[in-house]
Amino acid sequence: MIEIVNVSKSYVKDKKSIDGLNLKINNGEIFGFLGPNGAGKTTTIKMITGILKPDEGKILIDGKDINENPIEAKRNFGFVPDSPDLFLKLKGIEYLNFLADIYNVSKEDREKRIDDLSKRFDIYNNLSDRIQSYSHGMRQKLIVIGALLHNPKNWILDEPMTGLDPKSSHDLKELMKEHTKNGNTVFFSTHVLEVAEKLCDRIGIINKGKLIFVGTYEEMKKQIKEDGSLEDLFLQITEVE
Ligand SMILES: Nc1ncnc2c1ncn2[C@@H]1O[C@H](COP(=O)(O)OP(=O)(O)O)[C@@H](O)[C@H]1O
Ligand SMILES: [Mg+2]
Repeated sequence: MIEIVNVSKSYVKDKKSIDGLNLKINNGEIFGFLGPNGAGKTTTIKMITGILKPDEGKILIDGKDINENPIEAKRNFGFVPDSPDLFLKLKGIEYLNFLADIYNVSKEDREKRIDDLSKRFDIYNNLSDRIQSYSHGMRQKLIVIGALLHNPKNWILDEPMTGLDPKSSHDLKELMKEHTKNGNTVFFSTHVLEVAEKLCDRIGIINKGKLIFVGTYEEMKKQIKEDGSLEDLFLQITEVE
């Protein structure tokens, strides 16, 4: 479970990039965080994961405050950032073992999970190559595997489908569904409405740092009919790609 309570953040004085955000992501839920470019999705995710500190408010991950109990809170989630260009000099398998070490994953568990996930994502045969030689999609998949090695209850992903081929994108969505079926939580951002429609139990829409809608896709469609400004934003989001 992820709770965001009254969170605000400014990068520059007098301009709130996130403005009074309140959001609760329940156990067993796939939650899509939707909004046009520059809306504040990455800023929110950086605060949830402890990369950035909010100016106001607090964030709890399974009840642990990310700023007051960072180590405990961090054990409770796996994170896939928006850019997968990390640790390029390492071989795939070295990167995965490095993460497994950080999270204290036993030899037996890591071997099983690396084997399962890398076969599933079709990069098993590339694990001895340096990440430098991977395509964008392969890097993305490696990071997804790394984020799941310690079997976190909460899974947080920033624009995870970007750069994935259709099969990998499909596999990732299936993995998200499996993850939440077991009572776990998935929070991911996207600026592609179609992804959110098919996959999410609930959707939040953010625009200019403010949350302007939370609910199911059906509820969103209903509200769009009644609210012209939400309709404009909806068109803006669907036009992006
Ligand atoms: N490091 C930064 N310094 C100053 N402004 C930033 C920085 N990062 C993001 N912003 C601004 O904060 C707002 C939200 O950005 P971001 O969270 O990256 O949006 P999204 O991920 O939804 O595209 C934008 O106006 C962006 O220009
Ligand atoms: Mg972003």
